[in-house]
Amino acid sequence: MAEELGFSKGLAGVVADATSVSQVQGEVGRLIYRGISIEEIAEKSTFEEMTYFLLRGKMPTQPELNKVTAELKEFRALPKTVEAVIDAAPKTAHPMMVLQAAMAALAWDEAPVNLKDVDGNVRNAVRLTAQLGTAVARISRRRRGLAPVEPRTDLSHAENFLYMLDGKVPSKDVARMFDVALMLHMDHDFNASTFSARVIASTEARLTASVSGAVGALSGPLHGGANEKVLEMADKIGAPEKAKDWVANALATKAKVMGFGHRVYRTMDPRAKVLRGMLEQLVAQTGDKSTYETLRIVHDTMIDELGKTSKDYIWPNVDFWSGALYRLMKIETIDFTPIFAVARVVGWSSHIIEMWQDNRIYRPAAKYVGPTEATISPIASRG
Ligand SMILES: CC(C)(COP(=O)(O)OP(=O)(O)OC[C@H]1O[C@@H](n2cnc3c(N)ncnc32)[C@H](O)[C@@H]1OP(=O)(O)O)[C@@H](O)C(=O)NCCC(=O)NCCS
Repeated sequence: MAEELGFSKGLAGVVADATSVSQVQGEVGRLIYRGISIEEIAEKSTFEEMTYFLLRGKMPTQPELNKVTAELKEFRALPKTVEAVIDAAPKTAHPMMVLQAAMAALAWDEAPVNLKDVDGNVRNAVRLTAQLGTAVARISRRRRGLAPVEPRTDLSHAENFLYMLDGKVPSKDVARMFDVALMLHMDHDFNASTFSARVIASTEARLTASVSGAVGALSGPLHGGANEKVLEMADKIGAPEKAKDWVANALATKAKVMGFGHRVYRTMDPRAKVLRGMLEQLVAQTGDKSTYETLRIVHDTMIDELGKTSKDYIWPNVDFWSGALYRLMKIETIDFTPIFAVARVVGWSSHIIEMWQDNRIYRPAAKYVGPTEATISPIASRG
């Protein structure tokens, strides 16, 4: 049956549905959100504007932008029940595990909305986007033994998030770089967490339940966890002069170098270029070159060894530089993947709202490889 239908391990190359939210043009290294290139978005837009654009499918007018900006501020506080869920988690739990639980708990307060009610679903998505940021900051501070910082309503989404994380309002430069980093991570067509969100939502499960599942998918090192692993790698290498040998050894032992490779890109991920530019700007401002220099040598060695030659097209992806950028913003490594979720929640929600306009449950076929005529033997005779 499966052979007749076609079988592709990991669903590689399978077209699972249609979307107009974003497109990865892997051959040429281009990413577009509803037609607009990620480079233009990074240069001209803001998190608030992109939230409206991705969720609604049109660029906001000034009053529409003012409204979504006000809503993102108004919804920032967490329900007491969700605060209690976060505060009940062991301090040693990985923040993604706590975030997934917090998202599941946010579903208790989600207003029930008809599947095709775009206004109602967008309202829920904006609320979820605002609250997810607050949850991530609270989880981080609790882990670090710090009291939560209440959100402020006079700051942008990016500024307020960094303020809630650190207790201090960031400089305009850092806030803008973080705003851009969030926009770069907002959507990426049918990546694993978005596909997970779509699968869950295709059962007509609620938006927040679907996002909670997507957080689980994002927690894995082959997906959102990779930028955390890139910095672990940089720390393990220890110094720029050791990087070249380290890469040679990794490749000789068939180890994967984190932050490289992609299912769709056949060349450099365009987000990696934008992130590298911002990182270089921050390295120049802070004078702290340590992690950057090690990564730069890993990067150049990998491109020489694999990028230019490998049949598998192993080029840098979004995760290669983002961790080093966040580190210079004084963000702890373990918080990187939750920050990915702060941005990607917009993409997850946009896909769900789009899909619900013409929903069909996802239910692929399996290639069954087990026995077909087995029987139950007496327990005493089983080996
Ligand atoms: C992204 C990723 C999961 C894509 O996986 P995929 O499309 O299933 O590709 P595969 O893992 O099957 O890789 C194909 C080949 O390239 C090699 N390869 C892939 N990524 C590699 C990497 N980062 N470093 C070294 N070799 C790599 C694999 O070992 C494999 O070689 P083989 O056929 O000799 O076994 C994979 O490239 C990876 O694990 N990268 C590191 C993690 C990462 O950065 N993730 C973030 C993604 S945005």
